[in-house]
Amino acid sequence: MIKPGAVRNKHIGHILSKIEEAGYTIAAIKTFKMTLDMAAEFYAVHKDKPFYQELISFMSSGPIVAMVLLKENAVEDFRTLIGATDPDKAEEGTIRKLFATSKTANAIHGSDSDENAERESSFFFSRQEYLRTDRVQ
Ligand code: CDP
Ligand code: MG
Repeated sequence: MIKPGAVRNKHIGHILSKIEEAGYTIAAIKTFKMTLDMAAEFYAVHKDKPFYQELISFMSSGPIVAMVLLKENAVEDFRTLIGATDPDKAEEGTIRKLFATSKTANAIHGSDSDENAERESSFFFSRQEYLRTDRVQ
């Protein structure tokens, strides 16, 4: 998911290029603004963290770009492609190093396991939308 700050700063095109150049197939994509309740549900795992309110407020502050991405070893390789949560600690050339403006506004979200990738894909898309083979080949 491309986060609101990166959308506001007109980085969608650059970020999609990096993702495709890294070998991912974009199987489903859409842009829309999450409500505060949606952001709260998406990040429910962090509800007891000190940054939760700031995070869900930011994530519902403007449009995001949700995607389902396909590749071998997709989850692990994507975490490498996006870089560390804190852009100051992210490797040169990573999406967060290039496009983040703060730890909260860190440009992009990536699922942290295959199980969460499935959960998060079905949060934004129907299974029919992202499993149709004519979309993914
Ligand atoms: O996104 P990632 O898996 O790298 O990090 P996380 O620990 O799962 O945290 C989720 C999101 O919360 C991050 O991407 C940041 O946007 C935000 N966050 C924050 O605002 N302040 C922190 N100290 C840690 C995370
Ligand atoms: Mg995480």
